[in-house]
Amino acid sequence: MNFQTKAIHAGHKHDKSVGAHATPIYQTSTFVFDNCEQGARRFEGIEEGYIYSRLGNPNMTELEEKMTALENGGAAISTGSGMAAISTVLLSQLKAGNHMVAGKALYGCTNSLMTHVLPRFNIETTFVDTTDLGAIEQAINNNTKVIYIETPANPTMQVTDIKAVSKIARKYGAVLVADNTFMTPYLQKPLDLGADIVVHSATKYICGHGDVVAGIIVSSKETIMDMKFPYFKDFGGNTSPFDAWLLVRGLKTLPARVDIHCKNAKVVVDYLLNHPAISDVYYPGLKEHPQHDIAKKQATDFGAMIAFELKGGIEAGKTLMNNVKMIALAVSLGCVDSLIQHPASMTHSPVSREDRLKAGITDGLVRISVGIEHVEDIISDLGQALAKI
Ligand SMILES: Cc1ncc(COP(=O)(O)O)c(C=O)c1O
Repeated sequence: MNFQTKAIHAGHKHDKSVGAHATPIYQTSTFVFDNCEQGARRFEGIEEGYIYSRLGNPNMTELEEKMTALENGGAAISTGSGMAAISTVLLSQLKAGNHMVAGKALYGCTNSLMTHVLPRFNIETTFVDTTDLGAIEQAINNNTKVIYIETPANPTMQVTDIKAVSKIARKYGAVLVADNTFMTPYLQKPLDLGADIVVHSATKYICGHGDVVAGIIVSSKETIMDMKFPYFKDFGGNTSPFDAWLLVRGLKTLPARVDIHCKNAKVVVDYLLNHPAISDVYYPGLKEHPQHDIAKKQATDFGAMIAFELKGGIEAGKTLMNNVKMIALAVSLGCVDSLIQHPASMTHSPVSREDRLKAGITDGLVRISVGIEHVEDIISDLGQALAKI
């Protein structure tokens, strides 16, 4: 099946008990066994079937099967947030004494997990510019078990060459984890490019409508089973049945939505580039973007996340953000509506200023998630707010 068809049909089974066309919401915490022996077989893992919704639920299964099909993986785990997906992956792949190499520019809480939480368990991270393959290789030591990348990176829009980094990971026996939130499997498939594990904040484009917080992990069947039992089972980071149901519904329109997101973003980029108040625009679709060729090679389009600097610095940025009317001043991204935010004081505030600056996250950087409204309305709102500067 083609991607658009899989987005709609993969993982879907009609519930024959009542003949429902759409999947019902299985809003149940537990599942009834026919008898004691069946319960024991399910716990032993020799009979397929549900036990308890923290371990799995039909709505989670539909979501996991759909995402497995879309990312070309072997299996998936759906989690209660993107951070639950990331922490489940890292705590299952790493143990005390292990080391990780990660990108300098990462979502703020991912950086915070690596900087403040994992060191308490004697897991250290070296942050490098992952666009520099030499820097990755140099940071690897005998204990390196994971290389962690976000591409494009949040919020600098730097692009990491997934295939090239996967070769480094193989050479040193490390696992490559890629956060594919910004691109979605519609535009980029990290597993096909050599990554071992893909994580998503499903809160974003997977959901698409800004009404769910959730995450997804996709990998080989073997890796997912090892991660599920015992880590996912014991950490307890499952998705709720209703949220899984909303995510399945969101995924059906993912290709249609992302096509419009990408189309609108290109028009917004052109507008920003030509605006006298703006000094720099960061978007992988620009020929001048330092990793434009890699972005073109490994993804089918450039997404709809744009970062930019205003000539007037942070004060001008505040004026812009305080004056938008239709565009929401809010963190998160990938919603049908456009969102604008200030990484230094919002999404990336958990990262120290020194580390932010090293990663290229300046105090004046503004990030916009371009929605699927009519693009003229997005530009008109930006225009009237920019005019206030
Ligand atoms: C790239 C990226 N990864 C992970 C996360 C964390 O996801 P969640 O907020 O769903 O826990 C975010 C959140 O903004 C993100 O932007």
